[in-house]
Amino acid sequence: MSDLVPLPETVLEWGRGNLRDLPWRQTRDPWEILVAEVMLQQTQVQRVVDLWEAFLERFPTPAACALSPPSQVIAHWVGLGYNRRALHLHRCAVKIEEHHGGQFPHRLDDLLALPGVGPYTARAVLAFAFEHDTAVVDTNVDRILARWSGQALKASEAQKLADRSVPVGEGWAWNQTLLDLGATVCLHSDPECDRCPLVAGCVW
Ligand code: ADE
Repeated sequence: MSDLVPLPETVLEWGRGNLRDLPWRQTRDPWEILVAEVMLQQTQVQRVVDLWEAFLERFPTPAACALSPPSQVIAHWVGLGYNRRALHLHRCAVKIEEHHGGQFPHRLDDLLALPGVGPYTARAVLAFAFEHDTAVVDTNVDRILARWSGQALKASEAQKLADRSVPVGEGWAWNQTLLDLGATVCLHSDPECDRCPLVAGCVW
């Protein structure tokens, strides 16, 4: 692990020309980002594009969500599946209102203490809403790191390598770009290495 070097910044350059135009990339509102990330956990990007805005029209803030009965939140989750996520979001909203006085938490520990929020989602909120230089590692990013380094990485190693790679002040763009690289180029089967900005240094 100690000989792993961070990913090169050519990633950012690729992102400037290739980042997908997704609606949750136009906001830095932590509630809107949390809702998008929870939806994206188990639902295809295009379906989330179709349903994210409607959900937020009905529940624009944690306060609006917390005030609604859970059954209402589930009713507005139609088309997304895995309804437990809707209940988790409702419980997150209640906790933000009751425990954080309506202020969205922006410390990793506080985010991890929200119902249904794990390491990926907590860091996604930090990087995409608060623009922190923390690394977001999902299965796609994990695959990029493993291929590039030539090593199957334990979760803690992947997180360390990813954290060391985030260019200072670029956490938002860096993480969105890696997510898109994993989703559109460094595919699980048939990766399109000829389009990849990491091809020169990649062990794979
Ligand atoms: N999958 C999970 N988070 C995402 C994001 N912010 N953009 C695109 N796909 C994602």
